[in-house]
Amino acid sequence: MKKTLLLKVDSQKLEMENIRLAVDLIKKGGLVAFPTETVYGLGADALNPKAVRSLFEAKKRPFDNPPIVHVGYVKDVCRLVKGVPPKAKRLMKSFWPGPLTLIFERSKIVPDVTVCGLGTIAVRMPRHNVALALIKESGCCIAAPSANLAGKPSPTSAKHVLYDLDGRIDAVLDAGPTSIGVESTVLDMTVDPPQVLRPGGTPYEALKRVLGRVELHPIAVAEKELAINEAHSPGMKHRHYAPDADVIVVEGELSAIVNKVKELAEFYMQKGSNVGVLATDETAGYYRADVVKSLGSRSDWRVIAKNLFRLLREFDLEGVDVIIAEGVPTDRLGLAVMNRLRKASGYNIVKAK
Ligand code: TXA
Ligand code: MG
Repeated sequence: MKKTLLLKVDSQKLEMENIRLAVDLIKKGGLVAFPTETVYGLGADALNPKAVRSLFEAKKRPFDNPPIVHVGYVKDVCRLVKGVPPKAKRLMKSFWPGPLTLIFERSKIVPDVTVCGLGTIAVRMPRHNVALALIKESGCCIAAPSANLAGKPSPTSAKHVLYDLDGRIDAVLDAGPTSIGVESTVLDMTVDPPQVLRPGGTPYEALKRVLGRVELHPIAVAEKELAINEAHSPGMKHRHYAPDADVIVVEGELSAIVNKVKELAEFYMQKGSNVGVLATDETAGYYRADVVKSLGSRSDWRVIAKNLFRLLREFDLEGVDVIIAEGVPTDRLGLAVMNRLRKASGYNIVKAK
């Protein structure tokens, strides 16, 4: 067991004292969790193979699912990749710093373990003062998967990080809850048209406005588990975002969703299960269950995305056996929310009619 330091930092005032402690740890090959605008990441020096190996171990992450490498300057991308296609330059101008991860052919300086032996690398520049200060002060490119134990919902606060990783990492920089709440969009720039491998904080619609043609990989919008012949985004084949409770997602027209959620809640309560319902402000009042939580109003995607992972974790803390979750429409951030919910359920999706 390590002693995990809790380093508080105000992202506006940005006192450097705690950030410098974190910088020293990263430079020495240590593991530091830090906030980004999406979720907390678990950082290690991306060019230090030993540090990156310990990152996988701390998270219990399989060695075939590479992390995203975070940069503070566009010029650092050039060191990590073979070349930056013109379309990627346009995206970086429009969306960086921000929740967009781009996949490039990787350069030789990147250790094999950082990319799990792949010929490609995932890179992004986060839009968060603390993350950027950590990266720039350390002078490192920082490999950082989400700072949760593999398979669990991503952490949107330092408390979530410690719940999963206390004693397994060197420190966590705590700057309060993250603002977006779902991870970055992962876009493969090694194919043309570019392909969204994971929907996230940068909406598909916004990418199309800049690039014209962009494709969605079938698995990014999958409603059932697809056979993956070619592990295109390696992370696709692992179970993700899953609370301990079973999750059922109910999709369809809103009135049909409400009726089906009521029916399922009744069914599981009669069986003696401890039932949670993940609802929205417009519908929460209709349900009778052991725990009812609202993601927020259906008219505000940002609030829904921000609350998703926190509420999934809260259901576990309240000892719920089964979570019945309302589906939401899949435009804008809704696509990322539904991608996470469907995966969290292991594609246990009920179509309400
Ligand atoms: O918002 C985020 O992206 C957060 C914060 C911390 O930046 N990070 C994050 O990292 O979600 P992680 O490791 O949990 O997810 C990275 C995703 C995985 O689905 C992984 O399979 C994919 O990016 N990925 C990484 N390298 C790849 C590559 N070379 N080709 C395709 N997919 C890749
Ligand atoms: Mg993750």
